[in-house]
Parts: sequence; structure tokens; C-alpha cells
Amino acid sequence: MKIAMLTSGGDCQGLNATMRGVAKTLYNEIGDVTIYGILDGYKGLIDGKYKKLKKEDFSGILTLGGTILGTSRQPFKKMKVIEENGVDKIKAMKETYKKLDIDCLVILGGNGTHKTANLLREEGLNVVTLPKTIDNDLWGTDVTFGFQSAIDVATDVIDRIHTTATSHGRIFVVEIMGHKAGWLTLCSGIAGGADIILIPEIPYDINKIKGEIEKRSADNKGFSIIAVAEGAVSLEESKMNKKEFKASRENMKQPSIAYRIADEIMAITDHEVRVAVPGHVQRGGAPNPYDRVLCTRFGAYAAYLIKEKKFGNMVGMKDGKIVAVPLGEVAGRLKTVPADNQMIAAARKVGISFGD
Ligand code: F6P
Repeated sequence: MKIAMLTSGGDCQGLNATMRGVAKTLYNEIGDVTIYGILDGYKGLIDGKYKKLKKEDFSGILTLGGTILGTSRQPFKKMKVIEENGVDKIKAMKETYKKLDIDCLVILGGNGTHKTANLLREEGLNVVTLPKTIDNDLWGTDVTFGFQSAIDVATDVIDRIHTTATSHGRIFVVEIMGHKAGWLTLCSGIAGGADIILIPEIPYDINKIKGEIEKRSADNKGFSIIAVAEGAVSLEESKMNKKEFKASRENMKQPSIAYRIADEIMAITDHEVRVAVPGHVQRGGAPNPYDRVLCTRFGAYAAYLIKEKKFGNMVGMKDGKIVAVPLGEVAGRLKTVPADNQMIAAARKVGISFGD
């Protein structure tokens, strides 16, 4: 059997652990397996850049962060566009696949990656995919790998900010990754004991935030921690159409939403406000034990799908069980935090404000 693997989009914890899970299972159960590593995501598939991997390449990488194959962002909307240099990307990807004469292409990635994976499936390629992203926003799986490890990092940041916030009696705005979905901010915000959590799914009202800070002050709590998703939007912005929203963000003088919220708070209160943006630190380093187990289970299941020729599926988790989800169902659908999510309800019960 011959397969190829690629990692695409932003990196995260657990990419190597997952590839290891696929490879070790195939080596153990089939034996005669050739594995190619496509370099730098779909870019390598387009440019025909790959390397033959050896069994040893999959040893010692369970805890290794990043991806041994490299990755890149290749926007789905540009996949069908013929470049100025005349390259037809879809044709080129199919040619590399054909040249390698593989039985299956294993693709590890998030939302954009899955749209292209589905396109390749429609073009007749055998693909099996694995759900990667710290954002946990992939449809069809309860959890993506990388997410739990990123929660650990973001929670640690909020924990550490707490000590300074308490000592100085300051307001801290901590910006957590997640442009479209608030899962990471919600979970790390609750785990870190944030007082206010702002996520893209719940537009915030700055006056409600002010009210919350003042309520805490009146209660002798001179500090407040605001965990804000990088994609959080204000009430006013939530009423804008796409064009107006884009223009409003282009005119924003602050480098990101956390800084804007800090300025807004300072303009209407007497509090000292500071901002912390952990950024890509949230995606870096070793996967935590939860992700190591998840990646191993996902990888082993992907190998099963390959062995059984059940192509055109993403490996996912549903109610604690690893399952196959048809790619056609996954591609192009975002899993955002629903309004009736139980975590939101519990957070509200313990007094966390969502700025609404
Ligand atoms: O999708 C993962 C993610 O880390 C998002 O949370 C974030 O918005 C984005 O990637 C950042 O992308 P880049 O690494 O290209 O700056």
C-alpha cells in the first residue's frame, strides 16, 4: 500500500502525534506500506514537493509540536483560479497524486483545508482527513486535536495575569485566538476564572462591560479579567453588513480588538487597563496528554478507514466515540458556539458576564 500525508493551514499541537498514529497502525497492521510526506501543505502537492518517509521518521514525535512536514495556508477560494504563471492548481495536485501512484491521501487540517479536501474528493481522489485546529470550529466532530492543548496554554496565561491584576488592582484584557468561533475563549475563560468573556457569537455592549467592572469595584474587587476572542464584535458591529464591518475594522486605530476594548474602558471609567495577547504561543509546543490520546485514536482510526477503503471521510469524535464523517457534510460548515450551550449557561450562573 502507498499513501501520502500532508498538513495544511495553521499548525497546532498534535499534528505529528496524529501522523504517528496513522503510520504506526499501518506499519503494524499491513506491514508493506510506503508513506510519502507532502511538504508545506497543498503547496507541496501543487509543486510536486514531497519526500519518502521511513518508519523511523514516526518515532519520537508523539510529543513534538508543529509539523515535521511543514505547512502553509492555501486559500480555498484561490484553488480554482489559474495563476499568472499558468499553473492550474487542481490539475497540478491531481498530477502529483497520480505520479506517486498512491492509494490514499491523508490530509490534516481545519476548515479551509477541508473545503479543498472535499474538492479533491469530488475530483476523484481517495482522501481521508483529520480534524486539526485550536479553534475547535470544525463541523462533524465534538472536538478537534490541538484545542485542549491550546486551552491549557490560554488558561495558564489567564492564571498568570490574575496575580498581577490582583496585586495592582487593574483591569486586564486577554486576547485569545479564534476569529469566528469562541470555543477557546469560552473554555479558557471559564477555566481561568475570567470575570467577563467576550466571544464572536455574543456581541458585546461596552456599557454592560463598564457596569460589570463597577459592580465588582463596589464589591471591593478592584481588578477584573476580560477574556476576549480575537473575533469578538460589538453590538453596533453586529448590525453592520459585511462591507460596513470591513470598513469599520480597517479604520480601527488599535492593532486588535483587545486594545480597542481597553481604550473603550479607559474612556468611560477611571480604571487602569492593560492588554495581554499570547497569540501563536497558544498553538505552540507539545500536545497535552488529552490531545496525545485523541491524536493516537484519530490516527489509528484513519488507518482503519484507509485499510477498509472507506475514503471520502473525516475522522471525528461523537459522544466519546471515534467515527467517520462524510467530507461532503463537513466542508464549508462552521461549528460555532450555540446560544444554548450549557457552558455559557453555567458560566452565567457563577456570575461571568458575556458583555450582553
Ligand atoms: O485557525 C487557527 C488560528 O490560530 C486562529 O485561531 C487564528 O485566528 C489564526 O489561526 C491565525 O492565523 P495565522 O497563523 O495565519 O496568523
